[in-house]
Amino acid sequence: MEDSRPGSDPIVEIKEGMKAADYLCDDNIATALFLAGELNKPILAEGPAGVGKTDLSKAYSRYSGLPLIRLQCYEGLDEAKALYEWNYKKQLLCIQADRSRDLTWEQLDDDLFSEDFLLPRPLLKAITSDGRVVLLVDEVDKADVEFEAFLLEVLSDFQVSIPELGTVVARQMPFVVLTSNRTRDLSEALRRRCLYLFIDFPDPERELEIVRLRVPGVAEELARRVVAVVRYIRQMDLKKVPSISETLDWARSIMVLGRDVIDEDMIAGTLSLLIKEQKDLEKVQANIKSLARQALS
Ligand SMILES: Nc1ncnc2c1ncn2[C@@H]1O[C@H](COP(=O)(O)OP(=O)(O)O)[C@@H](O)[C@H]1O
Ligand SMILES: [Mg+2]
Repeated sequence: MEDSRPGSDPIVEIKEGMKAADYLCDDNIATALFLAGELNKPILAEGPAGVGKTDLSKAYSRYSGLPLIRLQCYEGLDEAKALYEWNYKKQLLCIQADRSRDLTWEQLDDDLFSEDFLLPRPLLKAITSDGRVVLLVDEVDKADVEFEAFLLEVLSDFQVSIPELGTVVARQMPFVVLTSNRTRDLSEALRRRCLYLFIDFPDPERELEIVRLRVPGVAEELARRVVAVVRYIRQMDLKKVPSISETLDWARSIMVLGRDVIDEDMIAGTLSLLIKEQKDLEKVQANIKSLARQALS
């Protein structure tokens, strides 16, 4: 449908809104956010570390005003930690306190496995929330394959069955963002369910814009030089290349140091902000002259 009114393009609107929430979207990211909202589909954001995958959902929460619920994935994460647990301590205390009441086993069982003793974890919190929420399932590649299968089930219908209480159905579909650093391949089934978004290192103009947005007051010239040096380092053969986080940290540090020239000494003195591996550090140190030239070109 054509709509020529200025400001009525939903993609432009999202870009502007996200920028006001401190996040710079390109067209791909803004389109994914728009479609995810319209189609009620989760976004699967994949890409290298530090390119803004986690921050995407945080910024979307600020932009949309929807509360953020985060499930941080790790090896060994299980249903109990992701969905719900029974509050054993409280149950034990209750049994002790109830001794005098002489309850039957059934009565006690009904009491102990009621909502009062339920500890909701992020997924259940997202499902039972009154209003819509943003659900961030962060670093899903770190979770085990079995957990991924369980997650897929939850994402399919947003209802869970708690044997003691019955089925709980989400009142409103959460806006879901899953992130992955690609430490392992995710299942086809999970990919199929999601809108796929690959976030890569930004091009120089966009990275510069991110620096301007996230490091207020940075001098234009300094921002350009920081981005140029970081990009130069990125094309070196390193174990871990600096990401946007490092670009921002470095720009902030140079500002704090009150320097406006990026020379060899400056780079050498602040390199640990950009490079986090000993072997990489040696390689970059060996190239410090070219880096300084890069900053001046
Ligand atoms: N497009 C962007 N706009 C604004 N800030 C960004 C953008 N991309 C990355 N950043 C910043 O870079 C840093 C790293 O982002 P993060 O979301 O933690 O990366 P990831 O989850 O991909 O490892 C954060 O400080 C984030 O705010
Ligand atoms: Mg992250």
